Amino acid sequence: MPATSDDADPQFRTDVLRGLASHPKAIPARWLYDQRGSELFDAITRLRSYYPTATETALLRDIMPELAERVGPGRAVVEFGAGSLTKTPILLEAIRPALYVPVDISGDYLRASAVELEAKLPGLPIHPVEADFATPIDLPAEVPGHAVLGFFPGSTIGNFVPHSATDLLRHFRATLGTGALLLIGMDRVKPIDRLIAAYDEPEGVTAAFNLNLLHRINRELDGTIPVQKFRHQARWNDILSRVEMHLVATGAVEFSVAGQTFRLADGESIHSENSHKYGPRGGRMLLLAGGWTPVAEWTDPARDFAVVLAEAQPERFAP
Ligand code: AVJ
Repeated sequence: MPATSDDADPQFRTDVLRGLASHPKAIPARWLYDQRGSELFDAITRLRSYYPTATETALLRDIMPELAERVGPGRAVVEFGAGSLTKTPILLEAIRPALYVPVDISGDYLRASAVELEAKLPGLPIHPVEADFATPIDLPAEVPGHAVLGFFPGSTIGNFVPHSATDLLRHFRATLGTGALLLIGMDRVKPIDRLIAAYDEPEGVTAAFNLNLLHRINRELDGTIPVQKFRHQARWNDILSRVEMHLVATGAVEFSVAGQTFRLADGESIHSENSHKYGPRGGRMLLLAGGWTPVAEWTDPARDFAVVLAEAQPERFAP
């Protein structure tokens, strides 16, 4: 087995062993994103059927004049995630911030994207923070003294179950402080056939993305999973309002990971990702529950995707 830097990440090992031992089997979605997984996700964003990326990008372009007026120049922009080289420049070019702080768990990715952003936005101070944005973080000393705008695009909030999404939003509030603004992308509920098509398309890229998790387990955790005996499945869970990705066993399988044996019956699955979809009021209620008061909301003409601007208002005496 080649020794890579990802080899035997103790948290990966723990999550996989726990997830495979649980009922139903489930592995946290963050482990889908190794080098190969990130490349496959990138390919997903360019698929016609995967509407969220193109829709949000066009929407961000459209709203920038109004947003720039609302937030004004000179802000410290804190992005949760390393930033996309298409969406992030749209925001930064339009609002003329004083500094940009991308927060990401992957230092390599963070540094690589900062180099490219510096080339695109000469003169903008960039202060990357290598941290897990799902925990409260310390911002660079340059941030205090500026009005703050958090940026959380991509409907990444949809990957968290509402209980954790609320925690995450509260962490954001604690990190950014009272008075901060947050610009967040949320995918909308829509007809089921379109939702499923976005997560299970004829090209098979999403299937490869999902199945890569099994390859990764085999590679990094000394696994013997017969990957060809699993198939990708996207399911709509209506009561929980989410698309789920599963890896379904197409027969009884038995394998080992890190020396432990696991079995799946025919048709049993490993649940690998959730993508929650929100209606307008549900999305705003989630933000409120997380301590963020919506102040403006924009959607594309088809109402497929929403971008919400919310404010961390001071806690007031409640009647
Ligand atoms: C990047 C997490 C928002 O849930 O739509 C895309 C990930 N998974 N296709 C999403 C994903 C399968 C994506 N997020």
